[in-house]
Amino acid sequence: MFRRLSQSLFESSIKSAYTRRFKEKGAQAEGVFWSSRVSQTARFEQVLADMKAEFGSTSFYIADIGCGYGALFNYIQSKPAWRQIDYSGVDITPDMVSYCKREHNSHKHRFSLGRQPKHPVDFAVFVGTFNLCHTDDYELWEDYILHQLAFSWARVRYGLILNITSLETAKINNHIFYVNPEAFAKKLASRFGAVSASPTQFVPQDTTFIICKEKHERHTTKLRKAQR
Ligand SMILES: C[S@@+](CC[C@H](N)C(=O)[O-])C[C@H]1O[C@@H](n2cnc3c(N)ncnc32)[C@H](O)[C@@H]1O
Repeated sequence: MFRRLSQSLFESSIKSAYTRRFKEKGAQAEGVFWSSRVSQTARFEQVLADMKAEFGSTSFYIADIGCGYGALFNYIQSKPAWRQIDYSGVDITPDMVSYCKREHNSHKHRFSLGRQPKHPVDFAVFVGTFNLCHTDDYELWEDYILHQLAFSWARVRYGLILNITSLETAKINNHIFYVNPEAFAKKLASRFGAVSASPTQFVPQDTTFIICKEKHERHTTKLRKAQR
């Protein structure tokens, strides 16, 4: 109870930080605390390639959790290789979501305020969603992340793709949460399902985790989806 209360306070503080930053820098990589567009794009390429490898094609449906100003949607639309992907974006920061709805007027139904997919999807994607943290309590933040992932886990058919800052020694430094890749992969596996982790290409101190549902579980979710 106390944990959830603390986590919701930290979350409010994070929302305010993203709102301020977005007002200051606008719709560009720096507006969501990325150092450059190059590193943002490298993260996108990694998560898209991992999903394609897992799914076997690019016609899947994703929810981008922590979509920011919709940069992944713009990226998918601009690349013929990814254009088949059916996209929806979710964010907890109201200014981000209103910007996305305004900017993508004819696609505004794709964006919503929240923390989990609005509808069942094949994959939920988290690109840097949990990097910024406003606490010094590592376990508290890790528990928050696992709790947030669980909301989405219930709504995905294939799995979750999570991209997060990492170091040999897990720590929080200067409001950034760094996982130790092996230890974090074990945590994810014990809580959810099979995990594979790989360093995010061209992005130092960053790891991409893919957590997949068992084949029979995918089948049951697919059936449930079909019966609706
Ligand atoms: C580092 S930014 C990345 C934005 C986007 N993924 C990109 O790469 O351009 C993180 C985003 O996640 C959002 N966010 C943070 N915690 C969240 C949560 N629990 N659920 C949904 N969105 C969250 C923030 O509001 C922010 O827009």
